[in-house]
Amino acid sequence: MNNKKLSNEHNTMGLPTGQILVGDAVTRLRELPAGSVDTVVTSPPYFMLRNYGVDGQIGLEGTVEDWVQALLAVLREVARVLKPGGSLWLNIGDTYARHERHGALPKGLVLAPERLLLALISEGWMVRNKVVWAKPNPMPASVQDRLSTTWEPLYLLTRDRRYLFDLDAIRVPARSQLNHPTTAGSGTKYGMRSKARPHWSGPLAGSNSGLEQMKARGVSSHPLGKNPGDVWTIATAAYRGAHFATFPEALVERPLLATCPERVCQGCGAAWRRARVVRSLGSLAVLGALRKSCGCVDRAWQSGIVLDPFMGAGTVGVVAERLHRRWIGIELNPDFAQLATRRIRAVNSENQAAA
Ligand SMILES: C[S@@+](CC[C@H](N)C(=O)[O-])C[C@H]1O[C@@H](n2cnc3c(N)ncnc32)[C@H](O)[C@@H]1O
Repeated sequence: MNNKKLSNEHNTMGLPTGQILVGDAVTRLRELPAGSVDTVVTSPPYFMLRNYGVDGQIGLEGTVEDWVQALLAVLREVARVLKPGGSLWLNIGDTYARHERHGALPKGLVLAPERLLLALISEGWMVRNKVVWAKPNPMPASVQDRLSTTWEPLYLLTRDRRYLFDLDAIRVPARSQLNHPTTAGSGTKYGMRSKARPHWSGPLAGSNSGLEQMKARGVSSHPLGKNPGDVWTIATAAYRGAHFATFPEALVERPLLATCPERVCQGCGAAWRRARVVRSLGSLAVLGALRKSCGCVDRAWQSGIVLDPFMGAGTVGVVAERLHRRWIGIELNPDFAQLATRRIRAVNSENQAAA
C-alpha cells in the first residue's frame, strides 16, 4: 500500500513516523505495535455530515448505532497502540436528524458524540475533559426556530488514572484569583472553610484545596500562569485547500504540548517528566527542566509520537513538525493524503528556512 514519507529523521523503533499511511484506519492501525504512541489527536468523520468521496469511509452508515460501532472499532485499536499513560483527544460534532432512522425525531439533535462517549466509557476509557471549542466565526445559519451552533466539543480521554499531562507547558497569563468570590476573605459568605469542605458539598463535588494552600502562602496565582480552562475560543481553520473539514492548528497545539512529550527515552519510550520546581530568572518564571523518568542508563532521547488515524489535510502533522514532535497519520482518501503531504512539506521548508 502507498505510504507518504515526509520526515527523514532517524527512526530507531521502526515506526512509520513522518508518514501518512494510506488506507482504512482499522487495517493500518493493526500494523502498529502495541504501546507505541504517546497521544492521539483526531477529528473522525461526523455522523452523516460529509462525503469524503471514497469507498469504505466512516460517516455514512445510515444509523447512528452503526456509526458508533465503526468508530469503536478504530478506537479499540487506538487503545492498543497507546502507551500506558497515553491520551486521546477527540473532536467530534453533532448532527440534526432528517428522519427517525437517523436516531432522533426529524429536526432533533442525534447526540452522536454523547452516544460514542458512553460506549467508550463502557469500554474502559475515562473522559477527563469536555473542552468547548468556541468559534468566533461560526458558519452563518438561516435557522429561525433554534440557536445557531457556535461550538464543538473536544474530549480528552485516557485509559489510566495516571497519565502524562504537562500543564505547565500550556499555562496562560493569570489575573489575580484572590478576589474571586469563592476564594476571597474568610470564605464564610459562600460557606467555605479554609480546611473543611463546605457544608453544601455533595459526595462528588470538587475541592479547592490547591487554591486554599496558595492563598495561605500569600500567592495569588501560579508563577507560570493559570490553567487555560476548558473553553477555548479559536477561529475555524484558515486553511483553504481542497479538504473541507480541516480543524484549526490552534486546536491541536495545546493537546500536543500537554500530552505529546518533548522527550522520550530512546531505549524504552518512557516520557521525560518536568520537574515540579519552577525556576525564576529575574522576575520571569521558567518552566521546570525535563528529567529522565526511567531506569535506562542511556540518556539518548527522541520526541514523543502523536497519531491521527483520520489525517485529512494533515493539520496534526503540520503542528507536530512545528513543535518538533514525531507523528504518524492514516488517511483513506489518497487525494487527501497527497494534499496533506504537500502541506506538511511546505511547513518543513518554512521551518528549515527559519532555522
Ligand atoms: C474530519 S476529517 C479530518 C480532518 C483533519 N483533522 C484535518 O485537519 O484536515 C476526517 C477524515 O477521515 C477520513 N476517513 C474517513 N473514513 C476513513 C477510514 N475508514 N479510515 C481512514 N480515514 C478515513 C476522511 O477521508 C477525512 O479526510
